[in-house]
Amino acid sequence: MNFPEHFLWGTATSAYQVEGATCTDGRGSSNWDEFAGKPGTIYRGDNAEVAADHYHCLDEDLDMMSRLGVTAYRFSVSWTRIHPDGKGPANPLGLAFYDRLVDGLLARGITPMLTINHMELPLALEQAGGWLNRDTIDRFVEYARTLHTHLHDRVQLWSTMNEIALTTWWGFGTDLFPPALGDKTKVLPAIHNQLVAHGRAIRLMRQVQPEGQFGIVGSYWPVTAALEGAEHETAARLLDLLINRSCIDVLVDGEYPPELMDWHTSSGGLPFVEGDDLDDIAAPLDYLGLNYYGPIQVVAEEAGSGGSVTPRGIGIRQADPADRPKTSFGWIIDPEPLLNLLRQFRDRYRLPVYITENGAAFDDYVAPDGRVNDLERIDYFCGHLDAVARALDEGIDVRGYMAWSLLDNFEWAAGYSKRFGLTYVDYGSQRRIPKESFHWYRRYIAKARSAAPEVELLSGTCAGN
Ligand code: FCB
Repeated sequence: MNFPEHFLWGTATSAYQVEGATCTDGRGSSNWDEFAGKPGTIYRGDNAEVAADHYHCLDEDLDMMSRLGVTAYRFSVSWTRIHPDGKGPANPLGLAFYDRLVDGLLARGITPMLTINHMELPLALEQAGGWLNRDTIDRFVEYARTLHTHLHDRVQLWSTMNEIALTTWWGFGTDLFPPALGDKTKVLPAIHNQLVAHGRAIRLMRQVQPEGQFGIVGSYWPVTAALEGAEHETAARLLDLLINRSCIDVLVDGEYPPELMDWHTSSGGLPFVEGDDLDDIAAPLDYLGLNYYGPIQVVAEEAGSGGSVTPRGIGIRQADPADRPKTSFGWIIDPEPLLNLLRQFRDRYRLPVYITENGAAFDDYVAPDGRVNDLERIDYFCGHLDAVARALDEGIDVRGYMAWSLLDNFEWAAGYSKRFGLTYVDYGSQRRIPKESFHWYRRYIAKARSAAPEVELLSGTCAGN
């Protein structure tokens, strides 16, 4: 277990998924509030009005983090708590909540890692065209300025946004997320405007806080073909380009990959790129935040036969290999690609990496003895932490690991049906029950930090055991 002394050990959440209190202290409506209110959008008609009620249970949750022994907490800020209508004066009550959160972390020796926007948009901005309207770029920069001005004396680690590529695919290319446009030609323009907003916000924050650490968070799902054949390889490469590389390559290279341009338009141009956009997008980064859950396998299929994800002819369908272990979400469990990914990131992007999310949903329940025996989750974390340890052994610059998630929470379109927490949330009473994985992670962190060298780890297969 060779984790460096300054390696950050943490957990992650996002505002919309845990806070609840959607109508409290002047918070404005977000696009997700509206989306979740429409029939058929969220599993079982769930919504995030209460979620894990982190807004009201903040002190208890902060104390739980102390018990867990984490040294970092990755959280996001709700845009509409700060600017309820997406613009105009900041809401002091919204800022006060994040003061309490940040001060509470610092008082407990926990480093705040703040994500400015995790997959939400003020409803007022969505109604004015959302990320297809360039005015939203200015609104995001204004919001980032408000937050940064208020918190930069206490927060060093900033991420602008979370998973732009996937969120935009689902929201603009399909109807799984708001704004549910289902128009694949709108995906790249909407991604582009978010990337410009990200770059401009980074420049602005860095000017004020040269010692700050500024980055962005993306998910990466290594894609392979489930069948042999050139068409399947092509489908796998294309999906990799669209969901994994469509943002990160342009952020680092300052230009769109030619294959992406070919995919988007037959005329070769990207008409939505204006003036200095590409310079703004390529604003230097201090790190990349990597969310890793597992690999995916795909096959090519006839264009237009349901699974197609491209506007230009190639159809792609996700395969569901029966022989691979999976989470209750059906996501393949395999830590090995994480190590390969970290090697690729080192060679291709040459930036320090934080694992900003990693975790798994299982069908957890409280046993008669009051425990939540989530041994599968322990194995999951164990294997993935082992991959991180091996990457560190190879000299790869991984700076921290944030387990997703501190709490069971509102899992977007899947509502409350998927539990990812280290802590079980009884949604009826809001009672928190640390799962076995919570106790295991506490011991793992303690051991890795050498605070308790003799502690016993639960899982027999675990690295460093
Ligand atoms: C990631 C999201 C996060 C959560 C996990 C399970 O894609 O960033 O909000 O939903 O998946």
